[in-house]
Amino acid sequence: MTRRAFTDVFIRHPVLAIVVNLVIVVLGWRALTTLPVQQYPKLDSASVLITTVYTGASAETVRGFLTTPIERAVSAISGVDYVESTSRAGLSTVTVRLKLNHDPTAALAEVTARLQQVRAELPAEAEPPVVEVQRADRPYASFYISFTSGERGVPAITDWLARTLQPQLATLPGVQRVTIEGGRQLAMRVWIDPDRLAALNLAPGDVQAALQRNNYLAAVGQTKGNLVQINLLANTDLRAADEFRDLIVAERNGAIVRLSDVARVELGAEEAEVMAKLSDREAVYLGVWPLVGSNEIEVAHRLRAEMDGRPLTHEHVRGTLLLILIAGIDTTWSAIGASLWHLAQHPEDRRRLAGADDMAMTLAVEEFLRAYAPVTMARIVAADVELGGRQLRRGDWCLLPFPAANRDPAVFERADEVVLDRAVNRHAAFGLGIHRCLGSNLARMELRVALEEWMRRIPDFELTDPSAVTWSKGQVRGPRRIPIRVVGAGA
Ligand code: HEM
Repeated sequence: MTRRAFTDVFIRHPVLAIVVNLVIVVLGWRALTTLPVQQYPKLDSASVLITTVYTGASAETVRGFLTTPIERAVSAISGVDYVESTSRAGLSTVTVRLKLNHDPTAALAEVTARLQQVRAELPAEAEPPVVEVQRADRPYASFYISFTSGERGVPAITDWLARTLQPQLATLPGVQRVTIEGGRQLAMRVWIDPDRLAALNLAPGDVQAALQRNNYLAAVGQTKGNLVQINLLANTDLRAADEFRDLIVAERNGAIVRLSDVARVELGAEEAEVMAKLSDREAVYLGVWPLVGSNEIEVAHRLRAEMDGRPLTHEHVRGTLLLILIAGIDTTWSAIGASLWHLAQHPEDRRRLAGADDMAMTLAVEEFLRAYAPVTMARIVAADVELGGRQLRRGDWCLLPFPAANRDPAVFERADEVVLDRAVNRHAAFGLGIHRCLGSNLARMELRVALEEWMRRIPDFELTDPSAVTWSKGQVRGPRRIPIRVVGAGA
């Protein structure tokens, strides 16, 4: 009477085994797509930030005319814990801290409505207040991405980030806003030469007035006929440094004074107020602020995929999961089949395996994988190259015969023999490099369990007709049909 193992149930009832596996796959799939991973339970701890710009106003004026009325208006809304404010020259900031778990969207709507009510009280020259929701538990962005360049300066990096990456990352799900830290905007710098200005009897104010007169954006309008409508455009703004140089500042005794006569014009950057560095190099940072209540780990994954230039599409995820499933089917049965085909013809190896201990079994599995490696992969040649005396062109297909590499006599002693206790066995059955088999550990275990179970139940067997054995062809090679006769009693 042989001892029965738990796994016997699945060998006797293959349908049960398939169903159990399908259940695991379905549960795994569901978990993969729906389970969020977050360290702490979801908490809404938010504040509403109101910033108002009043160019030219002193801190005192900002406090009296902006900060105080705004504070008064917003402190009365529901869910407010406390209100903080700062008044600087030209800028008022009011932060409304909300109570824990108060709905920030509702607070945002209420604050906006209240601000509308007091809008008439605020000075007309001040810009309309900007309102945004911020996480109160995180006064800093959750992610900072640094950008440095050996070729481009900070203004160029800032300009590039503001045009391309900042809007792109800001639209990712779960991202509230993306800010540029340590950046410097491009600016046209006009260095006035006071001596030349004085010689022409001009003042810096004349230059400023000329700049304002000549550099503005104008929408001319449109003209309509019976059948056609034409939009009129006027190029009233200056863009390049040369255009600024040619700008007429004044007329002196019938001669025209251009800006280049009294000043040096160059494209530079705004004055630096803040400077950011990375490893001693000047850098520009993108600060990424996730939405209140969003999962930061998910946002991190999306950011990484976006930054790599390859956001994961649904198709990509589906393809990867499908590959993991199908890559483990014909490969493993080919390896198991080839091992049994070998054992059916070699009684000495059957005897050795029937009484094999743990180590002997491990060595045998590796040797079967080496000697009967089932997989031959293909690659598309990336660049023209000469290989083994052959010219390969970009775009050609090229086979990687791992099974042949496993029988290389320069690497393996008695390469063409199956030596079940081969101690040194660095074979390439699972490939080499970054695409090396993802399922190699599972594959080894499957091969080992299959051989152990087979040898326990059918220790002695032989081929009935060697010529009746059929093999699959193509990239995965293994026996499809192996007619055998069981010798002795078995289980
Ligand atoms: C004896 C069994 C197996 C053999 C001989 C084998 C062999 C290989 C080989 C040679 C490669 C490399 C292909 C290349 O270089 O492009 C590979 C890749 C792969 N294998 Fe296996 N495999 C086996 C079983 C499995 C199993 C059971 C799974 C999954 C559960 C699996 C999943 C994969 C995946 C996902 C890849 C692609 C990896 C990548 O491209 O990054 N394999 N396999």
